[in-house]
Amino acid sequence: MSQLYSTFANIYHEMYQHIFDYDKEFEFYDAILKKNNSHKILEIGCGTGLLAQRFVANGYDYLGLDLHEEMLQIARSEVPSAKFIQGDMCNMQFKEQFQAVLITGRSLAYIINDKEVLDTFISVSNALVYKGTFVFGVFEAPAIFEDMHDFEQNIEHGSKKIKRINKLKKIISPAETWDWNAKYIIDDGVTITEFEDQTTLRAFTRKDINEKLKITGFAVKEIIDEGKTFTVVAEKK
Ligand SMILES: C[S@@+](CC[C@H](N)C(=O)[O-])C[C@H]1O[C@@H](n2cnc3c(N)ncnc32)[C@H](O)[C@@H]1O
Repeated sequence: MSQLYSTFANIYHEMYQHIFDYDKEFEFYDAILKKNNSHKILEIGCGTGLLAQRFVANGYDYLGLDLHEEMLQIARSEVPSAKFIQGDMCNMQFKEQFQAVLITGRSLAYIINDKEVLDTFISVSNALVYKGTFVFGVFEAPAIFEDMHDFEQNIEHGSKKIKRINKLKKIISPAETWDWNAKYIIDDGVTITEFEDQTTLRAFTRKDINEKLKITGFAVKEIIDEGKTFTVVAEKK
């Protein structure tokens, strides 16, 4: 289990405000949702609520879901007016239905086996109204593997310095996955804390995504190319 999303969820929250531009991410999703007349939305992999606060501030009827309670605790304190629930995207059940379901932050990368990807798509379909919109971004195979290399990140959050040393190892078969070993060194000016995470992530080909969406009852409306990632907009048939 990733410590970044559990014991050290606060470090995720502090770091990622400097890694992603959440205003831009919000504008991107907002444009897709408006184009598809979607107001009642479910965000899967909502993390610490960095997008939730923007969805709520812009009047969306919003529900956030995440696997990790520690991420949700931060989300709840950051965005008290939003609704959040704990759950696994592979096996979600709701009494209500949504006009759009989003999987943000490329969180589908954590679903590494085919059956669970299909279970996720079926779960999403059940959560959507007829002709509802499904939006999600993924890492693109093989583009992501072409120049995969180890790298280091240095992030400052207030007086806190966070160093992350990333080591990546390709595992091409059976699916296009890679092991990500991340070592964190956190200096808050008084103490230095270190921890290490070992995670496996998955990339997808467009063909694979197309096939999986087709057999779970979705029609692809749009694919937005982002270089090493792409975002899919699909409609429940
Ligand atoms: C890279 S973070 C993205 C968080 C947020 N969307 C953001 O952009 O800040 C990935 C998130 O996916 C969540 N996650 C991983 N596996 C999940 C699963 N099976 N079901 C629901 N959420 C999951 C993690 O707990 C984490 O919060």
